[in-house]
Amino acid sequence: MGHGNMLQHLILSLMLWTSSYGGFVHPGLLNSQADFNRMAQKVAAKQSPWIDSYNALISNGHANPTWNPAPQAWAERGSGCNDNSIYVQNDAAAAYQQALVYKVTGNTTYANNAVRILNAWAYTLKGIGCNASSSWDFQLMAGIQGYQFANAGEMMRNYSGWNATAFANFQSWMVKVWYPVCYYPFASQVYANWDLICIAQHMSIGVLADNQTLFNDAVNYFVTWARFSSI
Ligand SMILES: *[C@@H]1O[C@H](CO)[C@@H](O)[C@H](O)[C@H]1NC(C)=O
Ligand SMILES: *[C@@H]1O[C@H](CO)[C@@H](O)[C@H](O)[C@H]1NC(C)=O
Ligand SMILES: *[C@@H]1O[C@H](CO)[C@@H](O)[C@H](O)[C@H]1NC(C)=O
Ligand SMILES: *[C@@H]1O[C@H](CO)[C@@H](O)[C@H](O)[C@H]1NC(C)=O
Ligand SMILES: *[C@@H]1O[C@H](CO)[C@@H](O)[C@H](O)[C@H]1NC(C)=O
Repeated sequence: MGHGNMLQHLILSLMLWTSSYGGFVHPGLLNSQADFNRMAQKVAAKQSPWIDSYNALISNGHANPTWNPAPQAWAERGSGCNDNSIYVQNDAAAAYQQALVYKVTGNTTYANNAVRILNAWAYTLKGIGCNASSSWDFQLMAGIQGYQFANAGEMMRNYSGWNATAFANFQSWMVKVWYPVCYYPFASQVYANWDLICIAQHMSIGVLADNQTLFNDAVNYFVTWARFSSI
């Protein structure tokens, strides 16, 4: 085999490997492990401006590791709806911020509470919508908080205190309960922010769930405006 052929073979093998195994690097999404390592180093050295951002993070109430989640079985947002989205918003923010504190400090008090919040929701919330009015604001909630929950889950995915069964439950919860709410025909293709947050949600759930179809759909929608097609 000549060098050219060997290179072709190597590239082909890599392509097959990435398509068979998803090929996502974890943790992905907003920050890589190299980002977290850099944050941890700067915060440990109490260097500005990193330490100032960190102090703002831990002085926010959502980063308090005694935060108690208030999971709901059914979530609504919007005028005329039985709007309980405040619980979703607060708990998604709390899970995200506490996961971030853990990734920066290694303090497992924050890790355990982040996992407690994520599990509480993943084992309780069965659906998202609005039963009493024609408001579609719940789709914004599904996009924004779906994106935040997926990011929190991605940060915690290899934490030894989150067992494999519970993590798999979280992945499938995001795919089954959150993902379809942003899926066509619901995605509007009218309001830029509605569609953008749904694209971010799809992409994030794709990485969290190691599902390349969802990820590619998000990229495709962003580039070509072709509607989501994976389900
Ligand atoms: C972890 O965080 C908790 C809550 O803020 C604190 O009480 C504890 O001292 C921290 N542990 C370490 C090892 O820093
Ligand atoms: C709204 O409708 C869904 C789907 O039919 C149902 O599961 C849920 O319990 C209802 N929620 C409320 C608050 O009525
Ligand atoms: C999780 O993954 C990161 C990045 O690869 C690594 O630094 C860390 O040690 C892992 N944590 C556990 C509990 O496996
Ligand atoms: C995994 O975690 C879940 C949620 O905390 C818990 O209900 C379950 O018992 C745990 N399973 C194992 C095998 O530890
Ligand atoms: C990706 O998610 C879609 C939608 O739920 C599903 O139909 C498909 O089987 C998933 N693919 C993989 C590889 O899990």
